[in-house]
Amino acid sequence: MVKIGNIELPEFPLLLAPMEDVSDPPFRAVCKAKGADLMYTEFISSEGLIRHAIKSKQKLDIFDYERPIGIQIFGGDEEAMTIATQIVDATQPDLVDINFGCPVKKVVCKGAGAGVLKNVPLMERLTKAVVNSTSLPVTVKTRLGWDDNTKNIEDVAERLQDVGIKALSIHGRTRTQMYKGEADWTLIAKVKNNPRIHIPIFGNGDIDSPQKALEYKNRYGVDGVMIGRAAIGYPWIFNEIKHYIKTGELLAPPNIADRVDVVKKHLDFSVKWKNDVVGIFEMRPHYSQYFKGIANFKEYRMKLVMAPTQQDVHEALDEVLEVFGENAVRFCKPHYLLLAFVMRKIPTIRSLRKAIAEGTTDLK
Ligand SMILES: Cc1cc2nc3c(=O)[nH]c(=O)nc-3n(C[C@H](O)[C@H](O)[C@H](O)COP(=O)(O)O)c2cc1C
Repeated sequence: MVKIGNIELPEFPLLLAPMEDVSDPPFRAVCKAKGADLMYTEFISSEGLIRHAIKSKQKLDIFDYERPIGIQIFGGDEEAMTIATQIVDATQPDLVDINFGCPVKKVVCKGAGAGVLKNVPLMERLTKAVVNSTSLPVTVKTRLGWDDNTKNIEDVAERLQDVGIKALSIHGRTRTQMYKGEADWTLIAKVKNNPRIHIPIFGNGDIDSPQKALEYKNRYGVDGVMIGRAAIGYPWIFNEIKHYIKTGELLAPPNIADRVDVVKKHLDFSVKWKNDVVGIFEMRPHYSQYFKGIANFKEYRMKLVMAPTQQDVHEALDEVLEVFGENAVRFCKPHYLLLAFVMRKIPTIRSLRKAIAEGTTDLK
């Protein structure tokens, strides 16, 4: 069992990464249903929270069935982070997470996100401000360092632990790498194997299959993995990884009916939580992800993204099921029909021959 403060997680927990414009309640609901053990909100600006910006406030929405859930905040000002933490604390998540990893210029320029990796004393002060403003466990998500020459995560991990964080998630890239290249987990493993470190260390970056999750678990010894992009359009990845780790066997991938079912749930929640217009609009990028790899899908993706109402999207999804599902009409091309006919006749012909040989039929 892995513990973050008093939060008990299963052995080798799978975390859903915080992702702006993705990790909202509807997306989290489908990930939770498919096995995510710990989830985070999208990052929320501390400045936005203290100014009561509607967009920031809406991101605070969490639901009981999501527990354990963390709310992630970012900012470069201690006072703003203190007040923001109190606002977050009042919404009663299970933990507060600080983002020290966002590489985006507009965040970094304000000395927040990964920008703080260049100023470790500020990072410590911001973390202290958050830890002192809540009784909830505080966790941090960060990167290896600012650039190739300043990979300071080993030092950062010790210092943040000393300030009082209860877990650390490390994305195996530097800020200057953004999302390029391959995530390097060797430094994550060094942090995990540091005898001074006693908090859980979660690895993050490029986990996109059950095999890779198990391989990285064994190779790098982390306490759990955090999954981001691979869960977009494929929340099944959580249960697939769990099953593979437990049995060594791969689960069958979701069929079209499974996909349609999850997309409908995601859409319905999206419309309910936002409204018709925003909910439908924000679902549009998800369709190509949910149906990735399906040949000749373009026409149907267009139908899905052009559908103006919830009902229209449902109808387009029903059509997807009809055309691409197990009982799809498209498979009934003449040669498939002929093949099916012959396959069904083979046992009949065989039993007929047998009956003739045994003399148990009238046919001569
Ligand atoms: C669309 C998108 C939005 C993201 N938003 C956040 C965020 O709000 N907070 C954060 O800490 N990381 C954010 N990230 C980074 C992810 O949490 C994660 O560290 C990164 O995608 C690497 O993990 P992956 O290879 O499993 O995707 C975002 C990533 C993506 C792709």
